[in-house]
Amino acid sequence: MTAEPIPERRLEGRPTSERRRQTRDVFVEFRDVKKSYGSKQVLRGVNLKVFRGEVMVILGGSGSGKSVTLRHMLGLEAPDSGRVIVEDEDITDLPEEELYRVRKKFGMLFQSAALFDSMTVFENVAFPLREHTEMAGQELDRVVQEKLELVSLPSTGQLMPVDLSGGMRKRVGLARSIVLDPKVILYDEPTTGLDPITAHKINELIIDLQTKLSVTSVVVTHDIQSAFMVGDRIAFLNQGVFEWTGTMEEARDADHPVLREFLRTSAVMAAQPTKKE
Ligand SMILES: Nc1ncnc2c1ncn2[C@@H]1O[C@H](COP(=O)(O)OP(=O)(O)OP(=O)(O)O)[C@@H](O)[C@H]1O
Ligand SMILES: [Mg+2]
Repeated sequence: MTAEPIPERRLEGRPTSERRRQTRDVFVEFRDVKKSYGSKQVLRGVNLKVFRGEVMVILGGSGSGKSVTLRHMLGLEAPDSGRVIVEDEDITDLPEEELYRVRKKFGMLFQSAALFDSMTVFENVAFPLREHTEMAGQELDRVVQEKLELVSLPSTGQLMPVDLSGGMRKRVGLARSIVLDPKVILYDEPTTGLDPITAHKINELIIDLQTKLSVTSVVVTHDIQSAFMVGDRIAFLNQGVFEWTGTMEEARDADHPVLREFLRTSAVMAAQPTKKE
């Protein structure tokens, strides 16, 4: 086997995954979760533990069920069978009004950023505060400004989404997803569709937020560079189950043939020279 050009993780300023794993405090757990749409069985008995404080990367091919898995964490989908546990609470059968409370623990960056195009950046970020809190006036201004600064967009409040680049849209989406101070941030393909430099900035932002906000993060991606830069552990979704779970270090030597192929192909693709110089 040739050495694969998998990037090094950026470790400075971060607690080691070793230290995190010692706590073994499970934030989200899936127990034998099954989910079908029509005749198509997407999740075939998913087991997963996300530990408090870690960055868990979910890898898997297109249509393997990564977004579906995230939607189950939020209670936006209910499993056909199996259990979903969030902070020791079984949320599987909770009624909608209870799920509302559970969802406040999560910030979600959707695959498409999903900004409201008719609202300014400020109003987009303020939206969850207006919906879920009594906050108004100067306090609201301060919190929105603080979140925009966290994503390095301090003076964009009055812009409209149409004025923003793809990377900026993601960052505004991220500011909105953290405005209620979630305990967990879910990222669905945070770097897809971005050029490599912008993607790198988003990865740095994920790491910064992890450190500054002390959150737990789940990052869904096919971007192997991104996975190795931000992740503590990988869970590899294939054929409806997490066929392999382990640390980034273990992933390099994993003897799972499909995961190896997935890492190798993605890394080789990412290492291809581009015409841009
Ligand atoms: N609400 C739904 N109704 C019917 N089928 C669905 C629904 N949601 C997801 N699916 C199907 O479930 C499968 C998994 O979808 P999912 O969106 O989780 O894939 P993914 O791993 O996120 O893929 P991608 O990398 O392309 O985003 C797909 O075949 C999809 O068509
Ligand atoms: Mg998806």
